[in-house]
Amino acid sequence: MLIKGEGLKSIVVYYSQTGNTKKIAHAIHRGLKKASQTGDQYDIARLKDVSPRDMVNYDLIGIGSPIMELREPLNVTEFIDGMKPVDGKHAFVFNTHGCLPSWYMANVVPRLIQRGLTVIGWNDWFGSVVYPFIMKPYLTDGHPDAIDLEEAEHFGAEMVERSRRIYKGETQLIPKLPTGKAYDEIYNPVPMEPTPEYLAFLKAVPRVAKVNREKCKYPKCTHCIDNCPTGCIDFSSGEFSIRFDSKRCITCYLCEQTCPNGAIEVDYTEGTPLHDVGVKTLFLPILEHMEKQGRFRRLVPLKDIKYEDNRPWKLKHPHFKIDY
Ligand SMILES: Cc1cc2nc3c(=O)[nH]c(=O)nc-3n(C[C@H](O)[C@H](O)[C@H](O)COP(=O)(O)O)c2cc1C
Repeated sequence: MLIKGEGLKSIVVYYSQTGNTKKIAHAIHRGLKKASQTGDQYDIARLKDVSPRDMVNYDLIGIGSPIMELREPLNVTEFIDGMKPVDGKHAFVFNTHGCLPSWYMANVVPRLIQRGLTVIGWNDWFGSVVYPFIMKPYLTDGHPDAIDLEEAEHFGAEMVERSRRIYKGETQLIPKLPTGKAYDEIYNPVPMEPTPEYLAFLKAVPRVAKVNREKCKYPKCTHCIDNCPTGCIDFSSGEFSIRFDSKRCITCYLCEQTCPNGAIEVDYTEGTPLHDVGVKTLFLPILEHMEKQGRFRRLVPLKDIKYEDNRPWKLKHPHFKIDY
């Protein structure tokens, strides 16, 4: 229940590597603001800037991130698990992805419910993909665009309005996450059976990075350690390599891609052609299916996708900058 006389306190918490989720999070936040009334509070924060324990101070908590490896990245899982149980408060979930929402909602929504939250909505958007093996332009580039952002703003406003009505007693507005076949029809419309080519790619992905000690400025610079979403990097033992095969690592290669000194060396050569085949045999058919369903708006014409050109790993470091 909202305390009488106090406004609705809402927050959007997001994790974003390449900026897509950040854009969506800010659009949702604009929606929260638009729908807010006098006395309401609407905050926005990056995941790493807030403590999960502070979420008890909010009546409505929105959590979002990119999809990685068909689900939420581990920093999001751990954020939710670190929240104090907050019986009856409201939450909503959002993500951006390069092709399929997959198991994100199926993992995150029940996890929030386990913390005592009432999940009042969820949504997902396509986002461009920056990944060392991926050609540029990529099939989903251009997303999120102005239409996506307008939709996200509308979603934010809807969450505030719905939350207020549910707090007033309209509990029939609480949605139920579909399960089984109904879930798959929305989030896994094409069975995610990895093709042999894609499995070959997974076998060929680099498992270790060398750290060039001449370029590396550790311990003065701890950029890779501070920004690894799963806390996998530790040079304190004096061993300067990064392993991508630990259970925690999600092989995002953010460390290599964003090292300000270009000190992290990964050889992507072997995996790249195999990934191209994976894109053609796995991701392209999924996107074509979703396009036919009217769920994917293609912004880059297929003729502009050049499989062999312009890989981020051929460019100068950093390949992109994380927004600080
Ligand atoms: C390591 C990695 C794994 C990814 N896994 C998936 C996935 O399983 N499904 C998907 O649809 N997109 C996947 N993506 C694409 C991202 O979800 C997408 O680019 C997202 O919009 C990035 O958000 P950001 O810009 O906020 O970081 C992956 C991207 C990376 C780098």
